Amino acid sequence: MVKKPFYKKLDRTTELKSIVESDAQEIFHLIDTNRPYLRQWLPWIDYTQSVADELAYIRTVKDQYQENQSVACVICHKGAIAGTISYHPIDWMNRKVEIGYWLGAQFQGNGLMTKACSAFIDYAFDDLRLNKVEIRCATGNTRSCAVPQRLGFTHEGIIRQAEWLYDHYVDLHFYGLLATEWKKDK
Ligand SMILES: CC(C)(COP(=O)(O)OP(=O)(O)OC[C@H]1O[C@@H](n2cnc3c(N)ncnc32)[C@H](O)[C@@H]1OP(=O)(O)O)[C@@H](O)C(=O)NCCC(=O)NCCS
Repeated sequence: MVKKPFYKKLDRTTELKSIVESDAQEIFHLIDTNRPYLRQWLPWIDYTQSVADELAYIRTVKDQYQENQSVACVICHKGAIAGTISYHPIDWMNRKVEIGYWLGAQFQGNGLMTKACSAFIDYAFDDLRLNKVEIRCATGNTRSCAVPQRLGFTHEGIIRQAEWLYDHYVDLHFYGLLATEWKKDK
């Protein structure tokens, strides 16, 4: 049976929707016009050089969604795509998942990602019944670190040289949130 697309209204003007093929052009344009800013922290920017590259990514995550391996959404704000949020493939064995995200620079500062993460955490714990959500951010990426900090994640440590960013390694802060901690906070 085909799963129905993910949809969640975050506020009056913002919603999360499963990424679909017809989003490819708009997402690619947002990436292409934000390259230097996104490239500072995301390792896949140089591998996204065309709408076709974005389409290939969308097809992969659509398949993963149908196979219960992932969820990938666009964040729509006032009718425009502001960025994306997704689970890395779900670790069913250990009942945990990592969230990845980005916004166009012009959409920062409005709480969009904090709200989107909150909805993805609800889904992980309430619908998927997972035990843990993780977020990993490079040391130095203060805006990204602020998202799990704002949501009450625990800082679990720094893993050294955990990610290759084009021409150098970065250390990653590991943030974790347990299902029991999220429910307690609510
Ligand atoms: C990481 C990233 C998504 C963070 O974006 P952001 O806009 O700082 O995060 P949010 O959308 O949650 O917004 C938080 C800001 O909105 C403000 N805000 C307004 N209303 C808010 C609300 N209802 N809830 C929370 N914050 C709110 C907060 O005060 C904060 O502003 P400040 O940074 O000036 O203090 C963005 O910087 C980005 O995409 N960077 C490049 C890619 C990247 O680094 N990805 C992550 C890799 S680990």
